[in-house]
Amino acid sequence: MNEKQPFSEFEEIRLLEDLFPNIVPKYREVHDIMTSMLDFEKSQQIRVVDLGCGFGDLTRRIIDAFPLSVVFGIDNQSAILERTREKFQDSLDQVVFYQRDLNNSAWMNGLDYLHAVVSSFALDYLPEERHKAIVEEVHEKLEPGGRWVSCEFFRSEDNRINRIFHDLEISFIQRAMKEGQVNGEQLEQLGKSTILRQQHHICTVDDKVSWLKQAGYIYVDVPWRFLNLAVITGVRK
Ligand SMILES: C[S@@+](CC[C@H](N)C(=O)[O-])C[C@H]1O[C@@H](n2cnc3c(N)ncnc32)[C@H](O)[C@@H]1O
Repeated sequence: MNEKQPFSEFEEIRLLEDLFPNIVPKYREVHDIMTSMLDFEKSQQIRVVDLGCGFGDLTRRIIDAFPLSVVFGIDNQSAILERTREKFQDSLDQVVFYQRDLNNSAWMNGLDYLHAVVSSFALDYLPEERHKAIVEEVHEKLEPGGRWVSCEFFRSEDNRINRIFHDLEISFIQRAMKEGQVNGEQLEQLGKSTILRQQHHICTVDDKVSWLKQAGYIYVDVPWRFLNLAVITGVRK
């Protein structure tokens, strides 16, 4: 019998860390655009929150772009944060990671004087009411001129777009397999990941843009979009 052992939390974490950038289309491009939307001087001591920071790929991009910044990474998975803290041993003066649940507005306790709040591929884990509430909570926490920048998956009203994106995700994974970045066994294991398989709540870009406008942000816009992925930004007046 060829029965696969359930994989350990350690293996699950390492697998997620290795594979995520290779199975999400445009992963690095999204982080590029999000970082470039942060319109601050390199020499500014900005305070940034990364919601659902995961393994800190976006956090890393921000501290590289703004060497005097401090980034507060929020995630609710202790095993992920343990690995992320390990990866940032070289930058402990610039990062602080908190284990907090974004489903509870207490996530923001003690986080003040914020210049920017970013979030990549994370807020679609939250029910729509919480996602919308976070947009409002962040608005209250941002300094005047402070910026929101997020990217998630969205549902299109045009099913053709949803279908093209789905096909593209599959061909993206197939290419990663062909190039040896991912193998079939890893994908099978990934299918069992309790962290990755949490329920998603996908809204439309128009919904999210309207939440930002209702919360009082100005210059609300979609600076980058690729089928079902969109970066959305806004500024606190
Ligand atoms: C797909 S990963 C993206 C990580 C990272 N932002 C990136 O771009 O690589 C989503 C992250 O959101 C976190 N997350 C999901 N639901 C959360 C919640 N309710 N509170 C805090 N973090 C959450 C997960 O633990 C995971 O690390």
